[in-house]
Amino acid sequence: MGFLKRSWRSLLKLSLALGSLGMLSLLSFQKEKWDPTYIISYSWLAYTDSDSIPETVCNCSAILQGEREALEQAKLLSVTRDFRKSIHIPDEYYINATMDCSEFRFKRKYLTIPLSQEEEDFPLAYSIVVHHKVQNFERLLRAIYAPHNIYCVHVDKKSEPTVFSSIMAITSCFPNVFMASHPVSVVYAAWPRVQADLNCMADLYNASTKWKYFLNLCGQDFPLKTNLEIVRVLRSLKGMNSLESEKMPDAKKWRVTNSHKIVDGRIQGTGKAKDPPPFNLPILSGNAYMVVSRGYIRSVLEDKRVLALIDWAKDTYSPDEFLWATIQRIPGVPGSSWPNTKFDMSDMNAIARLVKWEWHEGSEGIQDAVYPKCQGQHVRSICVYGAGDLNWMLQQHHLFANKFDTDTDPIAVYCLEKYLRQKVLAGLL
Ligand SMILES: *[C@@H]1O[C@H](CO)[C@@H](O)[C@H](O)[C@H]1NC(C)=O
Ligand SMILES: *[C@@H]1O[C@H](CO)[C@@H](O)[C@H](O)[C@H]1NC(C)=O
Ligand SMILES: *[C@@H]1O[C@H](CO)[C@@H](O)[C@H](O)[C@H]1NC(C)=O
Repeated sequence: MGFLKRSWRSLLKLSLALGSLGMLSLLSFQKEKWDPTYIISYSWLAYTDSDSIPETVCNCSAILQGEREALEQAKLLSVTRDFRKSIHIPDEYYINATMDCSEFRFKRKYLTIPLSQEEEDFPLAYSIVVHHKVQNFERLLRAIYAPHNIYCVHVDKKSEPTVFSSIMAITSCFPNVFMASHPVSVVYAAWPRVQADLNCMADLYNASTKWKYFLNLCGQDFPLKTNLEIVRVLRSLKGMNSLESEKMPDAKKWRVTNSHKIVDGRIQGTGKAKDPPPFNLPILSGNAYMVVSRGYIRSVLEDKRVLALIDWAKDTYSPDEFLWATIQRIPGVPGSSWPNTKFDMSDMNAIARLVKWEWHEGSEGIQDAVYPKCQGQHVRSICVYGAGDLNWMLQQHHLFANKFDTDTDPIAVYCLEKYLRQKVLAGLL
């Protein structure tokens, strides 16, 4: 089997090298029958300007280098209604196109064989929480997809029926991508957001014993690195986790000292004070996103202290912004750090997620400025990236960035995915 996979890869490399000469047929070693998707050419795998999609009018290399003229053109396009309309992939497309899965994987240029032994030996588990914007989700899945990783997709129970059915249709085309077995109705800043990730964690933990690291995403995240780069960064962590985990600011303490409940789909205070956390665990502050070892997930699912903490956290406000950060500092949890403040880690130092908050933006050298101004637009004080953010973004060490929106700034996603795919293919040559 190992030999056959190696042969597969050398044939793929050969086909990439010869790609410009035209189509090169590859015989299948993994399936009984000839499969038309095995006709591989360089242009099949690369996102090229001959792809008949409207975004190709942009010059992505100029955009990535931050050239003003190209950025201005991209900005102009992004606010042009007809352009935005022309790039929108409707949910119905996915339902229709996934009726023939091999055609779908082929047309959408999914990479369906492991591209290196190194990646294959280091499988990853992803939890992806989605509630709308199917196209955004599918572009994300395509960017992170590898046949040896596994993916659990949690679609909010309240989502539009077409969102649910098109995402289900997409997942049905991949043996290693599945829907969460117990979907919940997510309420902003309340417990069910955590429950969605917990349900996927349990499914992923149970589905395979092989994966080494767990990463959680939402439908509006996008990777800044290729799968191989992600694997190398994770290996260099040597079992440690990477996520924001800091002293909780006084202004946020009410979130965990008062009890809350969900009324008509919204969280509100009950006016009652909460007991202190179990085992007097120190509560730390962080965000919803983490890069953690399999052992951390085992602790989340089985450690009695964590289970007590989870139970205690169910009536707090925005539990996703302290739970993972707190577990990260519990002694004995694999990959954790000691609770001493010397081990505090900010979102900028952790690699899990790059987010631009409006109040931290500003020029270098200005007090309180953490990053340059958002080049897209703000939604609830978070930057939805524009093409002009890419140059800065790709210099950061984070594995993923949040947020992207293919409806409001399609060029940012287009140039990013094209850049990553080129890097993947260049690495094979
Ligand atoms: C795109 O921009 C790059 C970098 O400025 C430039 O070298 C290249 O010629 C441009 N391509 C097109 C088709 O304009
Ligand atoms: C559905 O897919 C078929 C075959 O791919 C195509 O011919 C047809 O036009 C599609 N229908 C819609 C409504 O997209
Ligand atoms: C794991 O899977 C087995 C069988 O597939 C099932 O019986 C069990 O309940 C699952 N456990 C969890 C925690 O989901």
